[in-house]
Amino acid sequence: MMKLVSIKTAIIAATIGLSAGAMGAMADETSLDKAQAKAVVTARQDAFEELKDLMAPLGGMARGKVDMDAGLVAKNAAQMATVSASLHEMFEVDTSGFDIENRSDAKIWSSMDDFTAKIDALTQASGVLEAAGVAGDAGGIKKAIVGVGQTCKSCHTEYRTE
Ligand code: HEC
Repeated sequence: MMKLVSIKTAIIAATIGLSAGAMGAMADETSLDKAQAKAVVTARQDAFEELKDLMAPLGGMARGKVDMDAGLVAKNAAQMATVSASLHEMFEVDTSGFDIENRSDAKIWSSMDDFTAKIDALTQASGVLEAAGVAGDAGGIKKAIVGVGQTCKSCHTEYRTE
C-alpha cells in the first residue's frame, strides 16, 4: 500500500536532502548526522507546538471559559488527527543517541509498539472529537475534548522527559 506522505515529512526530507520515500529507510541507518537529527527533532517539536495551538481554544471550551464553537472544534480536531498521523514518521528516526536538546525519552525507540499505540489513541480521539463537533452536541464535545487531553497526558507521562 502506498504510504501517505505528510507535508511535514516532505519538509523534513527536503531539509535533510532525501526523497520522502527514503525517510522510512533512514530508520535503520546509523549514518544520520547531527544536523539531520536536529531537523527531525525540530519538525517533531513543531508538530507538538501545532497540537498545543489547536488544543488551546478547545481546552477553554471544555472548562466553559471560551464560548462553544462546534465548527472550530470540528476543524481543529480534523487537523489534530492529521498531525497525529504524521507523528509515526517523525519518530521513525531514532535521535536518542545525539546530544540535541529535546524531551523525547530514549525508551520510545525500545517501546515502539506501545508508543505507536499512544499515537493511534490520539488520532482516534481526534476523530471522535471531530464527529462530536460535526454533530454539534455540546456535552459530547466537552467529553471528547477531555478524551483527547487524556491521550496527550498519557503519552507525556510515559515518554516525555522533564
Ligand atoms: C504518542 C506520544 C505523544 C502524544 C499522544 C502527545 N505528545 Fe506531546 N510530546 C511527546 C513527546 C515525546 C514530546 C517531546 C518532544 C521532543 O522534545 O523531542 C512532546 C512534546 C510536547 C510539547 C512541547 C514541544 C516543544 O516545543 O518542545 C507540547 C506543547 C506537546 N507535546 C503538546 C501535546 C498535545 C497538546 C498533545 C495532544 C493533543 C500531545 N502533545 C500528544 C509525546 C506525545
